[in-house]
Amino acid sequence: MDLYDVMRTAFSAREFTPDPVDDATLYRILDNARFAPSGGNRQGWRVIVIRDPATKAAVAEAALPAARRYAAQVAAGENPWNTVVPTKLTPEQVAAAPVPPLLTEPYRAAPVLLAVCVDLSVVAAIDQELDRIGITGGASIYPFAWNILLAARNEGLGGTLTTMPVSREPDLQALLGLPPQFAVATVITLGRPARQLTRLKRKPVEAFATLERFDGPPLTRPS
Ligand SMILES: Cc1cc2nc3c(=O)[nH]c(=O)nc-3n(C[C@H](O)[C@H](O)[C@H](O)COP(=O)(O)O)c2cc1C
Repeated sequence: MDLYDVMRTAFSAREFTPDPVDDATLYRILDNARFAPSGGNRQGWRVIVIRDPATKAAVAEAALPAARRYAAQVAAGENPWNTVVPTKLTPEQVAAAPVPPLLTEPYRAAPVLLAVCVDLSVVAAIDQELDRIGITGGASIYPFAWNILLAARNEGLGGTLTTMPVSREPDLQALLGLPPQFAVATVITLGRPARQLTRLKRKPVEAFATLERFDGPPLTRPS
């Protein structure tokens, strides 16, 4: 597959065939994903391969509270879990929200989960003194996580980069035996997609790229 084709068709698979994902395939995926960049080339990643049904179920349980709030905020027309505009929902409203099964069931159904963790003692969080949520620290782990999904697509596999379980990170740390300085960046669900989506919904370049300044003219397709 051409690289641009891979990039344009790497969708979030949430339904899988029962085909297992063997260690040899996982090894190939990680052996290519490891060429991702990280700040100072510190490569603070650790990957935990999860196939035990009890562990998968515990990850699904960990995702539940975040998924509930996510669904409640979407239903209320909010941008879920954003750190700029506080939610107007009460805890009671959140507690009453139904959780879409697609936000929890793939952890149980996927043949394998990859908990992608990162050693915070080697991550350069350059924005840590700014008065906003940290963002640059994630840049030392998410390129690696996305490389895993691109490599998986190259193997005919698919999955979803998920973060819902991370709101219960202490539970995951206990479940997986993580040392305290290890954060969970994502739990990737992985398997053979039940079907292929090829038309991803994304904004056009003109909607997000401008010349020279935020309010500059849009970068347009050359004619
Ligand atoms: C940082 C991040 C966190 C995400 N967390 C979740 C998640 O917890 N659960 C989930 O089902 N999908 C999650 N997704 C997947 C997005 O929902 C998905 O990328 C988006 O809806 C686009 O879907 P598509 O790639 O199939 O077009 C996450 C994606 C990113 C990049």
